[in-house]
Amino acid sequence: MPAPLNIASLLAALTLEEKASLCLGSDFWHTAPIPRLGIPAVALSDGPHGLRKQPDEGDHVGISGSLPATCYPTASALGSSFDPDLVRRVGEALGAEALTQGVAVVLGPGINIKRSPLCGRNFEYFSEDPLVSGVLGAALVEGVQSQGIGTSVKHYAANNQETDRLRVSADVDERTLREIYLPGFERVVTQARPWTVMCAYNKVNGVYASENPWLLTEVLRDEWGFDGLVMSDWGAVHDRVAALDAGLDLEMPPDLGVSDAAIVAAARSGELDEAVLDRAVARVLRLVDRALSGAIDVGEEATARPGFDADRHHALARAAAAECAVLLKNDGDLLPLQPSAGDTVAVIGEFARTPRYQGAGSSRVNPTQVDNAVDELQAAVPDGVRVVFAPGFGIGTTTVDDELAAEAVALAGRASVVVVFLGLPDADESEGFDRTHLDLPANQTALVGRLAAANPNLVVVLANGSAVRLSDWEQHAAAILECWLSGQAAGGAAADLLVGAANPSGRLAETLPLRLKDNPSYLNFPGEHGHVRYGEGVFVGYRGYDALLLPVSYPFGHGLSYTNFEYADLTTTLTGNAEDDTLAVAVTCTVTNTGQRAGKEVVQLYVTDPDSSVARPPRELKGFAKTATLAPGEGQTVTFRLQSRDLSYWSVRQHRWVLEGGTFRLGVGASSRDLRLTTTIEATALPPTVELDGMSTLEECLAHPVGAGLLREAVGVDENGRPRGILGDEELIRVIGNFPIRTLAAFPGLGIDHATVDHLLRRLPPQ
Ligand code: BGC
Repeated sequence: MPAPLNIASLLAALTLEEKASLCLGSDFWHTAPIPRLGIPAVALSDGPHGLRKQPDEGDHVGISGSLPATCYPTASALGSSFDPDLVRRVGEALGAEALTQGVAVVLGPGINIKRSPLCGRNFEYFSEDPLVSGVLGAALVEGVQSQGIGTSVKHYAANNQETDRLRVSADVDERTLREIYLPGFERVVTQARPWTVMCAYNKVNGVYASENPWLLTEVLRDEWGFDGLVMSDWGAVHDRVAALDAGLDLEMPPDLGVSDAAIVAAARSGELDEAVLDRAVARVLRLVDRALSGAIDVGEEATARPGFDADRHHALARAAAAECAVLLKNDGDLLPLQPSAGDTVAVIGEFARTPRYQGAGSSRVNPTQVDNAVDELQAAVPDGVRVVFAPGFGIGTTTVDDELAAEAVALAGRASVVVVFLGLPDADESEGFDRTHLDLPANQTALVGRLAAANPNLVVVLANGSAVRLSDWEQHAAAILECWLSGQAAGGAAADLLVGAANPSGRLAETLPLRLKDNPSYLNFPGEHGHVRYGEGVFVGYRGYDALLLPVSYPFGHGLSYTNFEYADLTTTLTGNAEDDTLAVAVTCTVTNTGQRAGKEVVQLYVTDPDSSVARPPRELKGFAKTATLAPGEGQTVTFRLQSRDLSYWSVRQHRWVLEGGTFRLGVGASSRDLRLTTTIEATALPPTVELDGMSTLEECLAHPVGAGLLREAVGVDENGRPRGILGDEELIRVIGNFPIRTLAAFPGLGIDHATVDHLLRRLPPQ
């Protein structure tokens, strides 16, 4: 293993040109080496749910393939596991594979919020909720980095669509950024300390993320304490010097001869402070040093280590996929299937033998093997049960193939039970473009009704990377198992779930709406003329559906099990106080398996502030926990810990989190719309003080702890002891209390003149 780098002496020894070269990669997947100083190149490789190490220079979009690696469930699936321990285990395996392939940094996880179900890359993202995205993102980073391999948390920030992704400005207000789009990154950065962060392609409020000092330096480093390296998304840099100034250390892939020349010229002319360049170079060297100190083989001559245990990793991929599936409905307990000898299980749908288990684009993995559900199900059923397959429809077309459909319907009519595998074809969702609708292809939905008419014992198994519309066909299905894009072992996991060898324990990390137009972002997605306005504000996903009281197909957090759980004994203990930020609320409850099978429950804690002075979502997820596998009759106590921040909103007036004292409602349950236990807590906090000036309204002055007294004193009382002018007239205060005091000073007869206002403002204590 090479000796660690002495960064200070290397900085002194590097020429300006060498420093500039280090701020760019040397090719598509490597940092720049400086052989004369013993600085090796390190390899970067996609991606979040499996490695995509391209053997040579690579073509970036995956056309030229990559070395075989395990394809784990995509984030769309892992998000539904609600299980950080599982995601950490997947991360460990991913890190171990990176080690064998000489990769220093895995380019993931992607933790962007699923703002719209249409986003083409939703399959790479965890959730519409920032807590779920942050907790699972941190777990993946911890898992990978435990192997001595780095990660790159992406795409920072507000990269929530593919349409015009390299240019569009995400126009998001400050509060929405702080409450929805940044907290996931904040959690991953502060809790898991990723080696690197990848900036987004898009602009945020008019400034490219790659050139955004507020994002890359003020928030990321100054506030959150990030000490790693910021790299660009592939091709996100447009002005290398401005990007360097803003805090972007490494440009990928390199614009060789252009970006390095621009850095050198700017440093020579004095436009670029060389200290800024040195800072970026030091971060690149630190990354190289971290790679050297890990177990990784680094440098041009790096050789891959002996391979990983592909079978063991495949088994992990299978177990993980089973943990992610969401049982949406299960009428008459049709699942798990309990066929006996002589029964026929009809397996319908091309996806059962040609599975769709990952998405397209930079995250596409070349899997070590791929399960198919037909074979896996045949292996899982008891002897004497026949599993018979008919494709039913073709993938990649929406036209009904009469012959295929008729064959499938005939088979369904003869079978004891029908399992139909439906899903979105590759062409419908991918990196690079967004969907325009939520529908499954028409040839699939048309078939469902015909199959149900032939045999009502109909189970639908879904493979898709983001929400699809169910409302026009789900009445035909007795049971629906949403498997998302769950990796190379998706087929085996589906078989395990169908026969009950695994009990579904996934829960929806995104709402399944009845109609696309119900989605809160609908009127503002994907924007136009280079701008997308995040007009729904903080009301993203369930926060919006709930605020509008919209019925949905299945709510956020929903998911059934083959067993039942009872919730009891909700307790809360409040300690500390908000003023010195020591407020802590411990929330506990017990969950007991009251059914017949072993299973896991995802216990969810939602918080409501019913009396907020700002518009807040009716419920927000502030804690979740997946229980251990509980045997029938077994219970588990679950504890959540809330802090002041969990009860607060982001104040755009004070640019900080504000807790408004008062009553908060807590609800614990099995989905955002299935709260089993509720209680309230009283949190005390001083009312936030608003700074008064001449444009403060009369009402604000009267609500101000000091200002109210000063104003009353300045206005004075009449001979009957009643306040003079407007202060004695409640009705008038209601009508013009929202006028600024400086404006009221010009109105006659109100008892407030400019001298009164000046007197009041002069005597206010400094803020
Ligand atoms: C994607 C990133 C990816 C990078 C390298 C970009 O197009 O947005 O997620 O890591 O390419 O493949």
